[in-house]
Amino acid sequence: MAKKMLGVLYGSRSCEHEVSIISALQLMRAADREKYDVTPVYITQNGEWYTGEKLLSLETYNQFDPYRSGLKRVSLDLTAGSGALLHYSQGKGLFRGLTEEVVARIDCFIPVFHGMHGEDGSMQGLLELANVPYTSTGITGSAIGMDKITMKRFFRGMGYPTLPGVSALRSGYEKAPEAVLDQTEKELSYPVIVKPAALGSSIGVGWAENRAQLKEALDLAFQYDRRVLIEKGLDHPIEINCSVLGFDGETETSALEMPLSSGEVLDFAQKYLGGSSSSKGMASMGRILNPDIGENTSQRIRELSRDIFTALDCKGVVRIDYMIDRKTDEVYITEINTIPGSLSFYLWDKKGVSYARLIDRMVELAEQAQREKDQNNFAYRSEILHSVRLGGTKGKLKTGKL
Ligand SMILES: Nc1ncnc2c1ncn2[C@@H]1O[C@H](COP(=O)(O)OP(=O)(O)O)[C@@H](O)[C@H]1O
Ligand SMILES: [Mg+2]
Repeated sequence: MAKKMLGVLYGSRSCEHEVSIISALQLMRAADREKYDVTPVYITQNGEWYTGEKLLSLETYNQFDPYRSGLKRVSLDLTAGSGALLHYSQGKGLFRGLTEEVVARIDCFIPVFHGMHGEDGSMQGLLELANVPYTSTGITGSAIGMDKITMKRFFRGMGYPTLPGVSALRSGYEKAPEAVLDQTEKELSYPVIVKPAALGSSIGVGWAENRAQLKEALDLAFQYDRRVLIEKGLDHPIEINCSVLGFDGETETSALEMPLSSGEVLDFAQKYLGGSSSSKGMASMGRILNPDIGENTSQRIRELSRDIFTALDCKGVVRIDYMIDRKTDEVYITEINTIPGSLSFYLWDKKGVSYARLIDRMVELAEQAQREKDQNNFAYRSEILHSVRLGGTKGKLKTGKL
C-alpha cells in the first residue's frame, strides 16, 4: 500500500513557539515510517512557512536561518481538497514569471501548535477551507478551548464544576484600574489567580493575595492579552490531568497524571525545563502516573473528561486539567488543551498505546471526520438567483422570523 503523506504543522506566532517545536519533533520521530512519509511544515515567528529535511533536527532552530540550504519556503494551496504545499520561485528567461512547484501533496495534516495562531481555531479554519483531513479539534472547540473566559462560560453553562471568576478588558483597566480592582474584590475573595485569556503554559499568569498584588498581576497579564480572567485561587490544589482520544461520540480516556508541582503554580520554566532534559517538553515534567486519588474521584474525572470532549465536539487527542480542593475534595476543571504538550503521548504509553499507534488513531479519526464532512451537501441550490432583481422592488428578498 502506498504510504500516506503526513504534513506536520508547528511553530507559528505564539508565545509557546518553542514548546511546539519540541512536541512536533517528538511526534515526527515517533510516526511509523512504514506507513507514512512525513513532511515537516515549520511556521516561523514571522508567519513564514518552510519545509525541508533539516527541520527534523533540533539544531536547525537554535538560530533559525531561512536561507540555509535544504529549506524551502512554501504555502498551502487553499483550493478545496488539493492538500498541496506550493513553492514559488522566479522563473528564468525572457518571459520569466513566477514558477509554481508542488513540493508535497499532503493526505493528512497534524497541527502541533500550542497557543495562538495554531491551537486557537485559526489554523483549523484554514484547513477547513482547504478541505483536507487534519487531526486536531475543529474551529469551534479549538477557539473555545483557547479562550479562558469563553471556556469558563461554556463549562458553567453546561453545569460542569468551575471556580468563580470575573473578566476584565485592557481598555477598561487602563481607563479605570481602581474600578476593576473594586469589582474583583466585590465578586471574589483573595487569593485570586490572574490569567491572560488566550495564552497557555502559565505565561503571564499571576497570583494575588491582596490588592497590591492583584494590580501587579493585572499589569502583567494585560501585557499579553487585551482580555484577562481573574479566578478564585485554590490553596495548593491537587492537580490531575486526563487525556481523551476520539471523535463523534466515541471517546477513550488515558491514564491520569498528577503533575509534581507540590501545589505551586507551575511557571513556564518549571513545566518544560524542570525535568531531566529540556528537549523533552511536557513529557519531561515530573509527574505521578495513575495517582491514588480514590476510585470515585478517578472515575468522576474520566467521565467529566469524556463529556467535555463530546460537548466541545473534539477530535483526536486532547488533555483536560483539573484541580481538587484539598479542603473540600471538590473537583474543578482548570482548562482543556485541544493540542496538549507532547500530544500527551506519555499518558497513552502508560495505557499500553504506543506513540506510533496514537498517531495512527489520530490519522484514522481525521480521515473519518473528513468522510463525515464530505457527506454534507455544500451545493444547496435554490431558485433565488432567478427570482431576484437587485435594487428592484419585484421579487425582493424576504426575511422571515427566526
Ligand atoms: N484557580 C487556581 N488556583 C490555584 N492554582 C491555579 C488555579 N488556576 C490555575 N492554577 C495553576 O496555574 C497553572 C496554569 O493555569 P492554567 O489555567 O492551566 O493556564 P495555562 O493555560 O497557562 O496552563 C495550573 O496548571 C495550576 O498549577
Ligand atoms: Mg494549564
